[in-house]
Amino acid sequence: MITNPLAYTEAIHQLIAYTLAYELGTPMVSDAAYDQLYQQVKLYERNNPTHIAENSPTQTFPHTNLFQPFQHDPNTPMISLANAYTRDDLTAFDTRIKKTIQAPVTYCLEPKLDGVAVSVHYEAGRLRVAATRGNGSQGDVITAHVRTIDHLPKTLPEPVTLECRGELFMTHADFHDLNARSDTPFSNPRNTVAGTLRQLDPAVSQGRNLSIIIYQGLPKTGPAIDTHHAMIQWLTKLGLPTNLPHVSVHPTIESAYVGVQDFFQHASLGYDTDGCVIKVNELAAHAELGRTAKSVRWAVAYKPVAKRALTTVTAIEPQVGRTGVLTPVAHVEPVAVQGVVIQRVSLYNYDEIERLRIRPGDRVEVARAGDVIPKIMAVVSPSSDPLPPLPTQCPVCSSDVLHDGAALRCPNVGCLAQLKARLTHYASRDALAIDGLGPAIIDQLVDTQLVHRLCDLYTVSVDQFMQLDKLAEKSSRQLVDAIAATQTPTLGTFLYAMGLPGVGATVARQLAQHFQTLDALLATDAESLIELDGIGDRLANAIVSQLPTLRQVSDELYAVGMRIQSPTASTPTPETPFTNKTVVITGTLATLSRKDAEAMVLNLGGQIGQTVSKKTDIVVVGESAGSKAKKAADLQAAGVPIVIWDDATFCSKLTR
Ligand code: IVH
Repeated sequence: MITNPLAYTEAIHQLIAYTLAYELGTPMVSDAAYDQLYQQVKLYERNNPTHIAENSPTQTFPHTNLFQPFQHDPNTPMISLANAYTRDDLTAFDTRIKKTIQAPVTYCLEPKLDGVAVSVHYEAGRLRVAATRGNGSQGDVITAHVRTIDHLPKTLPEPVTLECRGELFMTHADFHDLNARSDTPFSNPRNTVAGTLRQLDPAVSQGRNLSIIIYQGLPKTGPAIDTHHAMIQWLTKLGLPTNLPHVSVHPTIESAYVGVQDFFQHASLGYDTDGCVIKVNELAAHAELGRTAKSVRWAVAYKPVAKRALTTVTAIEPQVGRTGVLTPVAHVEPVAVQGVVIQRVSLYNYDEIERLRIRPGDRVEVARAGDVIPKIMAVVSPSSDPLPPLPTQCPVCSSDVLHDGAALRCPNVGCLAQLKARLTHYASRDALAIDGLGPAIIDQLVDTQLVHRLCDLYTVSVDQFMQLDKLAEKSSRQLVDAIAATQTPTLGTFLYAMGLPGVGATVARQLAQHFQTLDALLATDAESLIELDGIGDRLANAIVSQLPTLRQVSDELYAVGMRIQSPTASTPTPETPFTNKTVVITGTLATLSRKDAEAMVLNLGGQIGQTVSKKTDIVVVGESAGSKAKKAADLQAAGVPIVIWDDATFCSKLTR
């Protein structure tokens, strides 16, 4: 508590010193300690309103900027780009351009670098000054930092005077190297660059290997240049680092949009990007279009909702599945992909760790395979840690694990992790579809010992559900009803829900069709099973070895009221967007193979067509689609009620 003017003055000086140290990247105290002192100063001022000091941090931001200010040309302030997220946003951008510009325009497409904006001035061919963007009108002089970048020429081959603007960034490789050398790791390349520029000592920049790419030229002298593309070519000729190989010219916004899709298909450039920038190519149009207070009107940043994202692996831990197989799961720093936050990614098996060489600390690219299941696509910048060792014990019941081919298996059938996984599968959408019975409730049912076996699910009462965390009476009642509603499954659904190794939806359906009743299946042997299409020696033996367990579990379920229906008595499959529709898929889909996509359509009651005709109902247009897409558009234009879906729309229909 500050009680006198001397303590008040001292506290102000202390706060100013803290802020200075913070800005220089060497904080003296924690944020909390700063806030506490700041609040004390504020309290003193409230009690002594006539004695508030002019330099109090509550009155002004303490002037801590030790960098020299730099005034940007008032005719070309360093302002921002407007964002576009969808194809419609791009069309609207094009329409706005065409309203102002009568002459034909073309578009340039280039990567949007995710770093820190910089303006570099050359006078008569010599690098004179470099400055940050600051507030757009005034930035900080950072010439000494920028001079540390080897690949930025300090002298140009011609005595031209120009300003060039670009982005300071760090490549993944340099960022990784830096982290390997640092005691406390930096969180990401962009923040590291920003922090480096706040250091007064340019030696820090030298050690951090900053990179620069110039994306705009504003020459005062030199040849007449009339397009952005030609400008980038000229800057490249002057030896300036540009992204010329990744700058493409497009006759229309539609063509630029196709180019954007291409861009996002490509592997990483080795540094972080944040979408693409689409710019009007004709420089005369830039002047005519001008700017708003915040952004230029001649360019737009296109940032589609991420299909892939970069994140860091924090740990790799085994997860025990319903058959006891241990699957490595990568825990990653939460990252949004298509609006869904990914935190855990299954790695399929331990060979996958070896194949992708994944280890904690790696920066990885994640996507949602088939737009649903999180998947690690690649390691973009590996950590130097060793690969995680193979587990030797089950993480849940501590049984010694067995090596079973490529798999590691917990041999304890009573392992609670296996029971939980079996219940989760049993209740899942493709199995018995018990609404509301997810892993969180299953964990509690098992942990509180309400459920020891599958059949126990059918005896949990509303009151018992209500004793679980977060379950009110209404949802408890709904759960009991949902469970009771699963007591007459078809044989195929039941077999799938049992989760026997090797028995997925297709084999389950096949077994049900062939045997018609559970008793007939229970009485079979390996020889008879091998007769069936697609069932080989190994699977037949695996199924037969599971029959005693299947008999026991089904007897227990029978005892609590389950009655399995033969397939002929099955209920009709529910209506889907594909029911009785002929679907043609053309082009490449981002996250699904053609075969998988077709199988999913068939599963959802659709048919697959190979050619587009009046009889086609839906055409799915993927990447690089050719004549089929055009035919569909032509038929649609001629009034044929054909529905055309892009990749994203198609995927969204699959998960309905
Ligand atoms: S052109 C607005 N091209 O994005 C003035 N900017 O959100 C014209 N950026 O401050 C900018 N890559 O730092 C342009 N290829 C690129 C870019 C790019 C990254 C940054 C730039 C700008 C910010 C706007």
